Amino acid sequence: MRVKRGGAMDWNQFNRDIRKEFPALGRTIHGYPAAFLDGPGGYQIPQRVIDAIVTYLTTMNANMDGSFTTSQETAQVIEGARRAFADFFHCASDEVVFGANMTTLNFLLSQALVRTLDPGDHILITEIDHEGNRGPWEQLRDREVFVDETGIDPETCTLDMTQFEINLQRGPKVVAINYASNAVGTINDVKTMVALAREVGALTVVDAVHYAAHGPIDVREIGADFLLCSAYKFFGPHIGLMFGRKEVLDRLHPLKVRPQHNDPPYKIETGTLNHEGIAGAAEAVQFVADWGLRLAERDGHVPATLPGSRRERIVAALRVFAAYELQLTAYLVEELGRIEGIRIYGPPKGHPRTSTVSFTVDRLTARTVSQYLDSRGLLVWDGDFFATRLVERLGAAERGGLVRVGIAPYNSKEEIDRLIDAMRDKDALWKYARGAA
Ligand SMILES: Cc1ncc(COP(=O)(O)O)c(C=O)c1O
Repeated sequence: MRVKRGGAMDWNQFNRDIRKEFPALGRTIHGYPAAFLDGPGGYQIPQRVIDAIVTYLTTMNANMDGSFTTSQETAQVIEGARRAFADFFHCASDEVVFGANMTTLNFLLSQALVRTLDPGDHILITEIDHEGNRGPWEQLRDREVFVDETGIDPETCTLDMTQFEINLQRGPKVVAINYASNAVGTINDVKTMVALAREVGALTVVDAVHYAAHGPIDVREIGADFLLCSAYKFFGPHIGLMFGRKEVLDRLHPLKVRPQHNDPPYKIETGTLNHEGIAGAAEAVQFVADWGLRLAERDGHVPATLPGSRRERIVAALRVFAAYELQLTAYLVEELGRIEGIRIYGPPKGHPRTSTVSFTVDRLTARTVSQYLDSRGLLVWDGDFFATRLVERLGAAERGGLVRVGIAPYNSKEEIDRLIDAMRDKDALWKYARGAA
C-alpha cells in the first residue's frame, strides 16, 4: 500500500505518544517526575508487556511437554515467542535459544565450545566488551587456551582494528566481539569483524545486549555464528536470548541432562524456562513491530510502502527510535561539552553510536554526581557497568568510573534539559557534594 510521505517528523508528538505506553513514567521521585535515564541498565516496560506476563501467569501457567490444555498453551506461547525473535534477529525460529540472561547463556556456550578446543588454541576477545562477553572466554585460560585481546584507542573509545587483524593471524578458534558499548555508546563494525574472523575459520560470538535497543539486528547480514542479547534492555522482562546458526548448533555439545531434547535449540536450554518472561519478551517484540506500522501509517516517515511483515515493522520502528534518540544525544553531548569540568567519553562525531552518553566531573566521583542527579529525580548510572576493562583503560576507574545517561524513546527533551540544567548548576552540585562528604 502506498502512503503519502509526511514532512519532518514531529518528535515531540512521537515522544508524547510513546510515553503513554509506560506506566512507570507517572512516578515521582524526591518530589520530581522520575526521568528514567538508566535505559542501558534496563528499559521501562510498556503496560501491554506487563499484561502479557500477567495473562500467562493467570490463565495458562504450566510446565512444558504435558498433554493437558495449559501445558499445550504454554508450548504455543514459547514457540510463538521463538517466531517473534526469529523476526527480531532475522533467522529461523529453531535458531532462537532462551535463557536466564546473556551472561549465563554465554557461559553455557563457552562450556560447550571448550569441548571442541585443544590446549594451545587461541580465543580472541576485546577491551571494549562487557564482562559478560569476556569472563566466559577468559575462564578458559584454566583449560590451557590462550585468550588474546584487541585493545581500544582511549581517545576515541573505538576498537584498534589494526590490532584486531594482527590478532586474527594467530588463527583464533573463537572471536567474541561487541556490537555496541554499554559504557560509551560506540557501535563497532561487527559485519567487517565477523567477515575477517570467518576468513581465518573462527566461530564468532557477538554481544548485542546494548545494541538491540538502538537499531535492527540482522544476523544474516552480519554473518555471525552466535549473537546474544537480553529482553530487559528493550522493553521486555529479565530473560536472555541467543541466536545460534543452525549448522553450528547442530554440532554443539552443550552441558545437558539425559531427558533433554537433543535437537537445537532445546539442547542448550537447561531446566525449565522462564515462561512468563518469554511471554513478556515476545510482547516486547510485538510492541516494537506495532510502532513500526503506526509510524509508517501516521507519518509516512519510514518507507514509501507500509512495512508488511513483522520483520519489516521491527526494522522500521527501531530506525525511527534510533533517529529520535540520536538527535537528543547530539544535543546532550553538545550542551554537556560546554560545561567546564565535564569530560565526555565516547566515539568522535560521525562515528556510529548509540544514545548512551558517559562523562566524568572534575574532582567529583561518579557516585556523588549520580546521587545528586537522583535528588532531582534524574535516574542515571555510575560506575563501570561491568565494562570493567574499558573503564580501566579510559583511566576512569579510580574515581568511581563514569556517569552514564541513556536516552530511550520514552525520554523527553524536557528530561534532557533538566539533566543539563542540573549539571550547569555548579552551586547546587557542590553543595550536594559537600553535604554528602
Ligand atoms: C553490552 C552488554 N553485554 C552483556 C550484558 C550482560 O547482560 P545480562 O545482564 O543479560 O547477563 C550487559 C548488561 O548490562 C551489557 O550491557
